[in-house]
Amino acid sequence: MIRIGVAGKGGTGKTTLATLIIIGLLRNNHKPILAIDADPNSNLAETLGVPAPRSLVEIVDEVTKNKDSIPSGLDKVQYLEFQIREAITEDEGFDLLVMGKTEGPGCYCYCNHLLREHMEKLQQNYSFVVLDNEAGLEHLSRRTSRQLDILFITALPDRVSLLSAQRICEMTKKLELEIGEIKLVLNEYGKHLPESPYSSLPLPVFFTLPFDDEVWKRSCSGKGLMELSENSSAYQTVWNNIEKILRT
Ligand SMILES: Nc1ncnc2c1ncn2[C@@H]1O[C@H](COP(=O)(O)OP(=O)(O)O)[C@@H](O)[C@H]1O
Ligand SMILES: [Mg+2]
Repeated sequence: MIRIGVAGKGGTGKTTLATLIIIGLLRNNHKPILAIDADPNSNLAETLGVPAPRSLVEIVDEVTKNKDSIPSGLDKVQYLEFQIREAITEDEGFDLLVMGKTEGPGCYCYCNHLLREHMEKLQQNYSFVVLDNEAGLEHLSRRTSRQLDILFITALPDRVSLLSAQRICEMTKKLELEIGEIKLVLNEYGKHLPESPYSSLPLPVFFTLPFDDEVWKRSCSGKGLMELSENSSAYQTVWNNIEKILRT
């Protein structure tokens, strides 16, 4: 089982990259895949073109508020586990688990704790786990993505975005996360790459994700990327690079 995470500042292409990785794995028969949307502003369901499942946060809220609904013979944790299994969207070749958004930090911690516990168990059923993380560093400090084989950090080619990428790198070291490899993906989206190279890249650029008109148009119309053409430049770039990793 291979675990791939994507992190980076908001709007840098995390969900796009995570989705393109999932599509590439599916099209090349690397399944089953567990997709995890750990961004409170969840939209992985949309880009994958599946209905958004009930989130982990919603489930925990409901179960906490309606303790009477817990069937006799099950304790709260067992019941939650059951509900989480029920909430996972099952599609051809992949399942989707959504973390969701919470009001209070207490519940969120509990959810992260649950996600951590369950991830371990759940992951065993899949060949690949692809985790779309929340913007910034919180997922790392909460350690929901403690163990990853590869962490892609997405950044736009601007200073603010690259500084965020650098901070994420530093955090992974401070928190002693178990991450096999960290790779920087520069996203050309919305910008023209200037000719002069950056003086302070946190990591060498693993690849540059080209701006892709089809990805953009599909995203604007809420169509999802599942039917993206095989010759989409963003798709091809992502898949060529994922293949490189899988070969090693
Ligand atoms: N390489 C790209 N080509 C075209 N559109 C892109 C590209 N990267 C990102 N986008 C678009 O930019 C927006 C933000 O990207 P998204 O992946 O949702 O970022 P994040 O998940 O980091 O917040 C989306 O509308 C997405 O379709
Ligand atoms: Mg996103």
